[in-house]
Amino acid sequence: MSFTANPVTPILEARTSTTRYRPGMPVTNDQVIELVRCATLAPSAYNLQNWRFIAVMSDAAKARLCEAAYGQPQVKDAGVTFIVCGTTNAHKSLANALQASVDAEIISPQVQTSWVDAATASHQDNPQLQRDEAFRSASLAAMTLMISAQGMGLASGAMSGFDEQVLRQAFELSDQELPVMLVTVGHGAENNWPQKCRLPVEKVLRFA
Ligand SMILES: Cc1cc2nc3c(=O)[nH]c(=O)nc-3n(C[C@H](O)[C@H](O)[C@H](O)COP(=O)(O)O)c2cc1C
Repeated sequence: MSFTANPVTPILEARTSTTRYRPGMPVTNDQVIELVRCATLAPSAYNLQNWRFIAVMSDAAKARLCEAAYGQPQVKDAGVTFIVCGTTNAHKSLANALQASVDAEIISPQVQTSWVDAATASHQDNPQLQRDEAFRSASLAAMTLMISAQGMGLASGAMSGFDEQVLRQAFELSDQELPVMLVTVGHGAENNWPQKCRLPVEKVLRFA
């Protein structure tokens, strides 16, 4: 079987974790909206869609973010940095989140009810699961956003180097919003590292 025709592979092989951006090269609001639309095509448990995105674009907001990110300069130079949050209370609004799929006759009202019941039973008194799902969903969304950026000819970089409390205050996050990752997006400079080497597949794969 040949894998050469897989259209996603060249995008994955070209993506690098960019830290150096060409300053003064903006990302447009339309690009930001399209990136978040693509990010929300990521899957989530029960289709909870337990994520929120803050697009940090103004100089003032970038300065606040840079302080929260221990002075890492890429958040100032990138056109936009997304604060990708997972949310912990999405089970409470799951019926509403699923309604469009019911209206489109993709799932039945019975499925909607059974998923809401199951998600409520497992999540409502389980802060650890709420947090785990928030991290799972936000991480999938962040990666989807980075792949989309690459496909749009933009560079990107994931970051977990930030002080959660400083970030929370600077961007007035609610208690239900967990800042999972920052994702910078912009026009890459010339002097970034190429994609780094990965462990060989046989070191990380086990068939069972
Ligand atoms: C969750 C996560 C957090 C990261 N945090 C930072 C960070 O705070 N600052 C930074 O410069 N790079 C950060 N990186 C980038 C990693 O160093 C980079 O992804 C890794 O070296 C692989 O690089 P490559 O994708 O270009 O091969 C982070 C990456 C991930 C996935």
